[in-house]
Amino acid sequence: MAKDTLTITDNRTGRNYEVPIEDDTVKATDLRQIKVNDDDFGLMTYDPAFMNTAACRSAITYIDGDQGILRYRGYPIEQLAERATFLEVAYLLAEGELPTRTQLDQFTETIKFHTYVHTNITKFLEGFRYDAHPMGMLLGVVGALSTFYPDAKHIHDPANRALQKVRLLAKVPTIAAFAFRHSRGLPLVFPDNDLDYIGNFVNMTFSIGGRHKPNKVLQHALEILLILHADHEQNCSTSAVRAVGSSHVDPFSAISAGIAALYGPLHGGANEAVLQMLDEIGDKQHIPKFIDEVKAGRGRLMGFGHRVYKSYDPRAKLIKKVADEVFEQTGLNPKLEIALELERIALEDEYFVKRKLYPNVDFYSGLIYQAMGYPTEYFTVLFALGRMPGWLAQWEEMLLDKDQKIARPRQIFTGHDERAFVPVEKR
Ligand code: CMC
Repeated sequence: MAKDTLTITDNRTGRNYEVPIEDDTVKATDLRQIKVNDDDFGLMTYDPAFMNTAACRSAITYIDGDQGILRYRGYPIEQLAERATFLEVAYLLAEGELPTRTQLDQFTETIKFHTYVHTNITKFLEGFRYDAHPMGMLLGVVGALSTFYPDAKHIHDPANRALQKVRLLAKVPTIAAFAFRHSRGLPLVFPDNDLDYIGNFVNMTFSIGGRHKPNKVLQHALEILLILHADHEQNCSTSAVRAVGSSHVDPFSAISAGIAALYGPLHGGANEAVLQMLDEIGDKQHIPKFIDEVKAGRGRLMGFGHRVYKSYDPRAKLIKKVADEVFEQTGLNPKLEIALELERIALEDEYFVKRKLYPNVDFYSGLIYQAMGYPTEYFTVLFALGRMPGWLAQWEEMLLDKDQKIARPRQIFTGHDERAFVPVEKR
């Protein structure tokens, strides 16, 4: 009868080892018994960038990268995008189940109660230069929240964790909107708790002299975009939140690490980079030359490719639909034509086909954000707003996981052997 084990022969010693296979996985620490002699540290695995290493067990988000499937807590992303609100999704990610009407009402009220930030936060914002990148402002101010809520360090108290999670979900739209207003030299707009979560955020960003009159289609589109970004299992920023959180620091500090990771152009910053790329291409007729440059290794087609998806990113499919609805309201963004042509060419080109490079979530999202009136450098902030529930759910899951310890990878040392110090005159 087949056994769920792996037999390994160490050809250095001729010894055999049998290690258990669970969930199609072997434990890296089971390899440590494989030694050449007693002094040997034991066999390690080498996996830069975690290409094939599961760093946790998680029940939050399921992705099948070959089939293009994404589910939060079992619910297909398509159904959530079509039928849920962002706060329902936030609740689902945190609690594991969709809220009942009463639970949702209570959750919504609690969030509303916490939307205001201490007025000293506005002073931080004043300190930033007029051209400060909004992601820099966001990560700085979210990190600074830990100084306003020193109680947040009591991470082993479930009630305390719940309070900090609500604070983050409630206050981050306020801080994000403040950063937007600061960049534009506009007076800050404070939360209006008669509005819903998305409506309040849109009002805080766009209101000029009175409550902003929302375009319902654009507001709904923003809600869908935030839902699509709400979690994506062990991506770079979530891994950052988990790794930093594993030191048992407060959640504001751990989440600001996630925001920092998201800022990078290979991660959330790609939505901004896509628009820069489309601007640089400028015209459809320049696309073939641009594609040739990418294929020659000079630059990347931003918004394409994914570590996990080796087929069309399901989020990108949904975003394309949202784009149609948005552009019907706002008129066509001329860059959409360039984007569509880039996609058409790339999907037929052997270079991209062979490497299974398809549009990812960031390819079309920036065009929509731009049509809504958000400047390019603000796009990743919108991604961060969307990702907040995922980071929080993953942070808590990590803390409650008995298998987890402080994140601390090993290394293969490649430096000098011991050598004696040489005084500066003798070097
Ligand atoms: N344009 C051109 N070539 C690419 C691209 C791209 N966008 N992405 C990957 N490749 C090539 C890469 O050069 C490599 O080719 P070769 O095998 O000849 O060396 C091959 O495809 C595999 O790429 P990789 O860098 O080993 O793949 P990865 O899993 O480490 O990287 C990625 C994933 C998303 C960082 C990468 O595809 C990329 O840089 N894409 C552009 C940036 C982007 O759109 N990021 C957003 C990701 S989705 C949302 C998010 O996570 O925030």
